[in-house]
Amino acid sequence: MNNLVFLGAPGAGKGTLAAILKEKLHVPHISTGDLFRDNIKKHTSLGDEAEAYIHEGKLVPDEVTEAMLRDRLERQDCTEGFILDGFPRNLSQAAYLDQLLAEQSKALTAVVLVDVPEKVLLDRLTGRRVCPECQATYHVLFAPPAKEGLCDRCGARIIQREDDQEKTIRHRLEVYRENTFPLIRYYEEKGLLVKADNSEGEADDHAEELFRKLMKR
Ligand code: AP5
Ligand code: MG
Repeated sequence: MNNLVFLGAPGAGKGTLAAILKEKLHVPHISTGDLFRDNIKKHTSLGDEAEAYIHEGKLVPDEVTEAMLRDRLERQDCTEGFILDGFPRNLSQAAYLDQLLAEQSKALTAVVLVDVPEKVLLDRLTGRRVCPECQATYHVLFAPPAKEGLCDRCGARIIQREDDQEKTIRHRLEVYRENTFPLIRYYEEKGLLVKADNSEGEADDHAEELFRKLMKR
């Protein structure tokens, strides 16, 4: 069973590695950030509630995020495993997740820390472009699409995320250090932490190495 959490700073490559690993492990990739952005695009009440927090780089309140996560994890496609990307983000969300999984007679099998030196993060985020239709991720320098400005996978015009402005990025990094960083110790103490390097070199190679590590557990 692969009940996985991907943990890491903004821009570390959680989404990039999860998109590769979900194909290898045959599990859904659940990004709470993507779920919020989809709701914002569709103007749902959840999207309206979350929008201002996300644009300012703040965490969306726990109750809102937890309810959304519960709905998603209860769906049929999660029975054989999942990759959670961006949840939990603080200790109280981690406790909520433990309880939610226990209710379903499940538990996490590993927590992957996507590890990248902080100086790399700003360049990764300021150059990132995303597909608003299929969520594919690109980088203007490190991972450009074949045709400039267009998604390789679905042909839609790629965009810059609204929270990828330098000021907002700096705030997201602070929020990470203050709220999310303590989760590393929390999961280390539970014996669940697996480190995935995604600093220099190709994300595909890092994903392959991570896959091998997970298979050995
Ligand atoms: P979220 O969407 O989760 O954003 P984040 O955590 O800030 O992480 P990112 O998506 O920015 O980075 P990533 O690690 O996925 O990196 P990526 O793979 O794209 O959350 C957004 C917001 O939603 C939050 O700020 C909050 O408001 C709200 N939210 C979400 N979850 C919440 C929760 N649980 N509670 C409360 N609020 C919540 O890679 C980055 C770039 O690097 C890309 O351009 C990529 O192409 C490039 N790259 C990746 N790997 C490599 C490599 N090896 N070499 C070169 N370039 C690379
Ligand atoms: Mg992401």
